[in-house]
Amino acid sequence: MEIITTVSEMKKSINRERDAKKNLGFVPTMGYLHEGHLSLIRRAREENDVVVVSIFVNPTQFGINEDFDLYPRNLAKDSSLAEEAGAAYLFCPEVKEMYPSGYETFIEVTEMTQGLCGASRPSHFRGVTTVVNKLFQIVKPHRAYFGLKDAQQVMVIQKMVQDLNMDVEIVPCPIIREADGLAMSSRNVNLSNGERSAALVLFRSLAVAKEMLLAGEQEARRLKGAILKIIEKEPLVKLDYVEIVNFEKLTPIEQLRDKSLIALAAKVGKVRLIDNLYWEGQ
Ligand code: PAJ
Repeated sequence: MEIITTVSEMKKSINRERDAKKNLGFVPTMGYLHEGHLSLIRRAREENDVVVVSIFVNPTQFGINEDFDLYPRNLAKDSSLAEEAGAAYLFCPEVKEMYPSGYETFIEVTEMTQGLCGASRPSHFRGVTTVVNKLFQIVKPHRAYFGLKDAQQVMVIQKMVQDLNMDVEIVPCPIIREADGLAMSSRNVNLSNGERSAALVLFRSLAVAKEMLLAGEQEARRLKGAILKIIEKEPLVKLDYVEIVNFEKLTPIEQLRDKSLIALAAKVGKVRLIDNLYWEGQ
């Protein structure tokens, strides 16, 4: 695996691969890789000739009081994990390489970013779409892999690709969880032991909602009520939102008849966690 830190070197290698008619799979990440990231890399390896992984803790998607400085980093460990999972290139630029002084261009998906995480993180998705667009220009992938753990992110990126006529296929991939159900996240390492067990309430509440759905419940109001009741019992967990939305448009719904998403976000100590449940409908 080749480790590349500059845009010009990355473009040179990509052009070489494209000239050789290789299919390029791309997995953008912020590093501190875990099984969730590795599942994307392995899938990309299965479906493409060459896999590029990027590691870049993107400052423009963090709000001023958010955890940019606290975000965990370990490039040495990440490179061996990425290589083992099948990456041919690891692109890990410095901030000034991606945003040199004088940088002033941003990409914004206007409506889908209003609700869910966008409501409490107003400039977050603008940073995500901007950096993902830049990475797509540099890596020119045929396919790019994203986890449904960040369901709103996948939908927003899909919308950007569609609206801007980009030639890349977005491949949504399932959520990978710890054995006890906690959704894997690089941020989990910042949880104390007590916070780690308290955080499980998020998965537990979604598991109860799933049981209700399987038993025939379709009323969003009742499902939301049940989730709130469970999470409220856990004093270490400060809920940001629980929303039940149409899966494609991300707009609130009252009945879960078609493809829907139950999404939630909470602060556990200093750590912001998200999780969700996808429901296929009937
Ligand atoms: P990061 O949080 O590092 O996640 C990188 C990719 O891994 C995303 O597509 C995310 O959805 C996926 N992922 C994370 N945890 C997962 C899990 N438990 N199961 C399955 N997939 C999981 O998301 C970002 O970085 C950034 O916003 C980025 C897209 C790289 C732009 O900066």
